[in-house]
Amino acid sequence: MKINQNVVLITGGSSGIGLALARHFLEKENKVIIIGRSMDKLLSVKKQYPRIHIEKADITVEEDIKVLVHKYPDVNILINNAGIHMECDFKNSSLDTQSIKQEISTDFIAPVLLSKYFIPSLLLKKEAAIINISSYFGISPKQSAPIYSASKAALRSFSKALRVQLEGTSVKVFDILSFRSFIHSIPVSSVL
Ligand SMILES: NC(=O)c1ccc[n+]([C@@H]2O[C@H](COP(=O)([O-])OP(=O)(O)OC[C@H]3O[C@@H](n4cnc5c(N)ncnc54)[C@H](OP(=O)(O)O)[C@@H]3O)[C@@H](O)[C@H]2O)c1
Repeated sequence: MKINQNVVLITGGSSGIGLALARHFLEKENKVIIIGRSMDKLLSVKKQYPRIHIEKADITVEEDIKVLVHKYPDVNILINNAGIHMECDFKNSSLDTQSIKQEISTDFIAPVLLSKYFIPSLLLKKEAAIINISSYFGISPKQSAPIYSASKAALRSFSKALRVQLEGTSVKVFDILSFRSFIHSIPVSSVL
C-alpha cells in the first residue's frame, strides 16, 4: 500500500503512540486527522503541527462516531489507537462498574463501531486500511489489568476475523502489538 497521499484518521492522536504515528504520516505527505476529547490537548498539537486536522470527539459515544464518518468521507486509513489502561483488583468489592464499562467501551467497542461505520466508505477507496493498536497483554494477560488485557485480546480476535471477511476487497486489516518505544522508532512503511 502506498504510504503517502492517504487520508489518515487516528483516534487518540493528541498524545503518546497516536501522536507519534500522526507525526510519521504527516512527514510522508498524508492528510492526518487526530481525534481526542480534550480540545486543549488537540490545540497544542495543532500549534506544533499546523497541517494536522483536529477533531474533538468521544469514541465511546456512537453519535460522535457517526459525525466523524459523515464529516470525513475521504478517510482511507482508520487507526484505532485511543485506549485506556486501568489497574484493578477483583478482590476489592468497591470496584467501580462504570470504570470497567468505560475501559471495555474505549478499548474494544469503540474500534468495532468505528470499523462498522467507516467500512462502507473504505470499501469505495482504491486502497484502504484499518489499523488496530493492540497490545502484548492481549496475548499474555497482565494480572493487574484484567479488563485491559481481555479487551485487547478481543480486539486482536476481531481484527483477525475482520481481515478474513474483507479479503478480496480494497480494505486491509492490521493488528499491531504495540510498545511505545517501538512505535517511536518504526517508519510508517513498516506499518502498512
Ligand atoms: N503506552 C504503551 O506502552 C502501550 C503499550 C501497548 C499498547 N498500547 C496501546 O496503544 C494505544 C495508545 O496508548 P498511549 O499510551 O500512547 O495512550 P495515551 O498517551 O494515554 O493517549 C491516549 C489518547 O487517546 C485519547 N482518548 C482516550 N479516550 C478517548 C475517547 N474516549 N475518545 C477519544 N479519544 C480518547 C486521549 O486523548 P483525550 O484524553 O483528550 O481524549 C489521547 O490522545 C492504546 O490503545 C494502548 O492500549 C500502549
